[in-house]
Amino acid sequence: MTRIVVVGSINMDLVTLAPRFAGPGETLTGDRFLTVPGGKGANQAVAASRLGASVSMVGCIGDDAFGQQLYDGLVSEGVDVTHVRRVDGVGSGTASITVAGGENSIVVVPAANGRVTPAQVEAARGIIRGADAVLVQLEIPLDAVDATLRIAQDEGVPVILNPAPAQLLPVEWLSRVRFLTPNQHELATVLGAQGESDFRELMRRAPCPVVLTRGEDGAWFRDKDEEPRHQSGFKVDAVDSTGAGDTFNAALAVYLAEGLDVAVRKACATAAIAVSRLGAQGGMPRADEVTAFLETHQ
Ligand code: RIB
Repeated sequence: MTRIVVVGSINMDLVTLAPRFAGPGETLTGDRFLTVPGGKGANQAVAASRLGASVSMVGCIGDDAFGQQLYDGLVSEGVDVTHVRRVDGVGSGTASITVAGGENSIVVVPAANGRVTPAQVEAARGIIRGADAVLVQLEIPLDAVDATLRIAQDEGVPVILNPAPAQLLPVEWLSRVRFLTPNQHELATVLGAQGESDFRELMRRAPCPVVLTRGEDGAWFRDKDEEPRHQSGFKVDAVDSTGAGDTFNAALAVYLAEGLDVAVRKACATAAIAVSRLGAQGGMPRADEVTAFLETHQ
């Protein structure tokens, strides 16, 4: 069984379904409101677990009611929570999300996610050592991300860094990454090349292999010194794109042992299924659903 460690955020998503996005100063009547588990880290952990991986999560929750719900949610998804820490006197991370026409807008309050420390990642060194891949994003403090990259490198374990939300990163960090998985905007930001619109040129410029997500257009990928290659997206009726990138990253990690081409194709399929359903984690499929989807979709 593939073993994955996820170091990242755990949020409660406060989701409003609306006919369209409200403008500044505008009050709009929505259609429905839900509170559902989210956070890029937890989403990736749950997606990988549903695909059949053995998953351990490293992260923080608050000592509020959301924290307990988020903890219980991870446990019920079969995720190992030994390294999920409850922080006293702090709320859990939240994301206020509006979903309209299959698109979303998100405002995240990190709260307890801001308390993930290098020491907490160090305490998880043993499970990182035994992992096939580590997934990490940028919704936790950068020193904890740095610790994750260092420890995984020490232990010879490949890291998939999903640079979201995007920020400029030291080049030296990127050289420790097995795959960077940005969208086009994130790649430009990470490399400090915001004016550059040619994403293939950006991929060539990155000091590490890149798998670049392009929404409906699928993904482009470049390992080592290859030229960027394309995997088409799968057409589905989009209901909610929240968590699609997280699902993609998890699937990439889970299927990586099958080769990069296969892993990217399966990651595109897994994300397409997720987009066709409501909720970040609500739409994440199981491995047999991915297999069935690929049998009926070109
Ligand atoms: O990637 C989607 C996630 O981003 C949401 O679940 C939300 O919590 C934010 O972290």
